[in-house]
Amino acid sequence: MKVLILGGAGFIGLHLARRLLRDNHDVTLVDDFSRGSRDRELAEVRRHPSVTVISADLTSADAWRQLPHGWDQIYLLAAVVGVRNVERDPARVVRVNTLITLHLLDWVRDDAKIFFASTSEVYAGGVDAGLVPVPTAEDAPLLIADVRAPRFAYAISKLLGEAAFLHAARARGLSVVIGRFHNVYGPRMGSDHVIPEMLLRAMSGENPFAVPGADQYRAFCYVDDAVEAVVRLMDTPEAVGEIIHIGDDTEVTQIADLATLVFKVCGVNPTIQEKPAPPGSVTRRCPDLSKLRRLTGYEPSVPLADGVRRTMEWYRAQLGPGSERPARQPIAFYYGRGQLELLTGYRRVVLQPEFYEPAELAFLRRHGVQPLAYMSLSEDTGPEAPWQRAERNPDWGGRYVHLDHPGWTEHVLTQARQALDAGFTGLFLDTLNVEHTYPEDLPHLLRLVELIREQAGSAYLLANRGFGLLPRLADLVDGILFESFSVRWVDGGYAPWPPEVLDHHAEIAEQLHAYDLDLYALDYADNEGLAAFAARRAAEFNLHLFVSDRALSRV
Ligand SMILES: NC(=O)c1ccc[n+]([C@@H]2O[C@H](COP(=O)([O-])OP(=O)(O)OC[C@H]3O[C@@H](n4cnc5c(N)ncnc54)[C@H](O)[C@@H]3O)[C@@H](O)[C@H]2O)c1
Repeated sequence: MKVLILGGAGFIGLHLARRLLRDNHDVTLVDDFSRGSRDRELAEVRRHPSVTVISADLTSADAWRQLPHGWDQIYLLAAVVGVRNVERDPARVVRVNTLITLHLLDWVRDDAKIFFASTSEVYAGGVDAGLVPVPTAEDAPLLIADVRAPRFAYAISKLLGEAAFLHAARARGLSVVIGRFHNVYGPRMGSDHVIPEMLLRAMSGENPFAVPGADQYRAFCYVDDAVEAVVRLMDTPEAVGEIIHIGDDTEVTQIADLATLVFKVCGVNPTIQEKPAPPGSVTRRCPDLSKLRRLTGYEPSVPLADGVRRTMEWYRAQLGPGSERPARQPIAFYYGRGQLELLTGYRRVVLQPEFYEPAELAFLRRHGVQPLAYMSLSEDTGPEAPWQRAERNPDWGGRYVHLDHPGWTEHVLTQARQALDAGFTGLFLDTLNVEHTYPEDLPHLLRLVELIREQAGSAYLLANRGFGLLPRLADLVDGILFESFSVRWVDGGYAPWPPEVLDHHAEIAEQLHAYDLDLYALDYADNEGLAAFAARRAAEFNLHLFVSDRALSRV
């Protein structure tokens, strides 16, 4: 079957894509990456020969004009979701969710079967008012208590979607299935949901541990079960034209008990500090799944304790070693002296080796920080030497070098040895972009990195760019820094890269995820707007970001 997943880089979308690939279907994912992430998992899925990924904003009519036809199944998951988005920008929620629905209906040919993702949020008003029983069935009356309240914007947008699909289906003979998801959770769902949010806080050692709405009840559904239900529904002719719940009603759980389970799974034992529930959240929520069971024979199969454990393992792997300690920032680049206390807020810090004494490096290591020594591999700022070329780097003034000069190799290896002997746990290899200056030097540079790796043993090696050295570079280093990924410094200030450069960088960042490497971005910014822009893009491409000034004088 040819399957189109709109919003396919998101949480449910990518899990669904994997499942459909296992079932031997051709899968095309469309996403604008406003929330879905171009991470290692998307890169893995993308490598599958039956997968196509299209980056497009589905609120744009142009995007739909370019989208091919000929689908057996279409899953509409793309939407603005999440409490924070809804509270912050309800107008965007209504606009995006509605436009995507209406564009799809104008575009779609009548032979494709469509799944529309709706939500249990449609019952919030009725449950709140005590008008709707819990467990709740699909035919419960729906109540929008206050059209002006931001939290209803999401439910309203989904109800409009349901109505738009059901009426169009009747008028045009379209095959449509409406699934109302109830509290789906699992790996790769971001942090704006109670389960990952609690897991991340527990792993970071929060104590006392705040539990808002401890006395509320929820029924959580592991994502594999939700995907199973969706797939079965799309295979069931009787589901066409119906609204059907998707969830797990087997363990209705009090939020305080969820917290206790999270502690157990994370191996922590903090004191619970009960807090008021977030405004507008309902006290009890559970789907009646009779219709889903009757139509498909579905039974949830992942108990909450298993699902929470699997989710925890995924988030722990994302955070990497050291995740049990209080949360710290992944990396800092600081080219000044001292500031040891501030530097302990980071897992890795890149420093100028001549500014730090062995005792200071020992202090950082004791605090769980990995100090990395800055080293330039293709430029020399030292006194005149036979390996230097006549030309200088116009930005920094250092002399370019002849990379095949044995004196330079010896010089670099000596510096590396001295830094590691002084107590640095790794090296930061700078100026690896010789493809722009002396492309004939690329093999010599690669050889130099190989020699450093041989000498450095298992020390951490972080490369600055060096894309011309890939794929071999990926075998030699532990991480790659994408310096100036989104923002650069220009004469007298800082500015985003022009769109064509941003696109080029985006392509490279996507390719980097194919390697098993730590990926970082370093951007230069002097105001909050630019820093926020850099943060948004780094999050989109799943890069750990550090923002600083041109001189790297901030920590
Ligand atoms: N996860 C749940 O528990 C749950 C509960 C109820 C309903 N739902 C619904 O299921 C669907 C999937 O939810 P999810 O949890 O996977 O959310 P998600 O945010 O992870 O996935 C939605 C995807 O849509 C993409 N998107 C947003 N706007 C877009 C646009 N203009 N063009 C192209 N792509 C765009 C996002 O980048 C994201 O990848 C959503 O429609 C949501 O409303 C989910």
